[in-house]
Amino acid sequence: MQQTIAPADRAKEARSAPSQRILEHWTPDLTALWGKHPIKVSHTLHQSPLFSMEGLAALIDAYPREFYMLVHMGGQNDKKLWREGEIGSLSGKDVIQAIAQGRLWLNLRQTNDVDPRYAGVLDQMFEEIGIRVKDQSGFPTRSFGILISSPGAQVYYHCDLPNQSLWQVAGRKRVYVYPNKAPFLRGEDLERIAIYEVEVDIPFDGWYDDYALVYDLEPGQMLHWPLNSPHRVVNYDCLNVSITTEYWAHEALMGHRLNLANGAMRYRMGYAPQSRAVSGAGFFAKGLMVRGLSRTKWFAKSKKVHKPIEFKLDAGRPGHVVELTGRSA
Ligand SMILES: [Fe+2]
Repeated sequence: MQQTIAPADRAKEARSAPSQRILEHWTPDLTALWGKHPIKVSHTLHQSPLFSMEGLAALIDAYPREFYMLVHMGGQNDKKLWREGEIGSLSGKDVIQAIAQGRLWLNLRQTNDVDPRYAGVLDQMFEEIGIRVKDQSGFPTRSFGILISSPGAQVYYHCDLPNQSLWQVAGRKRVYVYPNKAPFLRGEDLERIAIYEVEVDIPFDGWYDDYALVYDLEPGQMLHWPLNSPHRVVNYDCLNVSITTEYWAHEALMGHRLNLANGAMRYRMGYAPQSRAVSGAGFFAKGLMVRGLSRTKWFAKSKKVHKPIEFKLDAGRPGHVVELTGRSA
């Protein structure tokens, strides 16, 4: 099992392992469009043993509790039901089986911090991207997570604050990417996400789909979109495994500083800020304000409250959950 390998040995293993090239069939248009327009890129990660079902099962077996989130989406008619739970006594292999048969998704967060072998993959990803994309200043504060989700699972309309990519390694999904400007995304939406950290709480209307770019992702395909582009995801009728990578380029960091300052004014001080400039004296003053507020308890209070843990996986019935209040579902 994975726990029997000391971290130092795993790091050594990661460094010494022969690494297959990750990016394939890169063309000059992808370099020109990176960060400016959604792009679909070929990769080889679905061929790596680290992302085989056996490799993922071993990873789950050793995954620290504080680094994963397990979500149950309820029945087909429970629109937007979202409850958090625990793996319980199931092995990694059984967890994957439960997700394949249920309405669940498992988010293994910061896999690069949990296991050095995946940190090596993350480094190689951005090394290869960096050779082709010159202007992201080393892709700072990058991280790597793995999403394992049920057939038909959805991620509702939302936007993320850092720069993001989605790498498909198993199953198929449809991704809708929307313009990162009003009316699809307003400044106050970004400010609210920055302040309250609730990504899915932005308005959506069905006609937005008429203006979305729609991509079907298969194993060996990655999607990268412009900063903050709203998106939603629908799995096809199969188990899905995807990797998310993120980083905070200069534009994302400056935007975050602006959104924190404007959000503090709008949602705490009752004043609607007019400017979204990320330069000049006004922005400098907002930066000082954010720095001052970050030393207070005010920001910490604004963070989302963690949801209660309401269920664990049912060891006897794959795909079902046991309510931690004692009921079965
Ligand atoms: Fe997202």
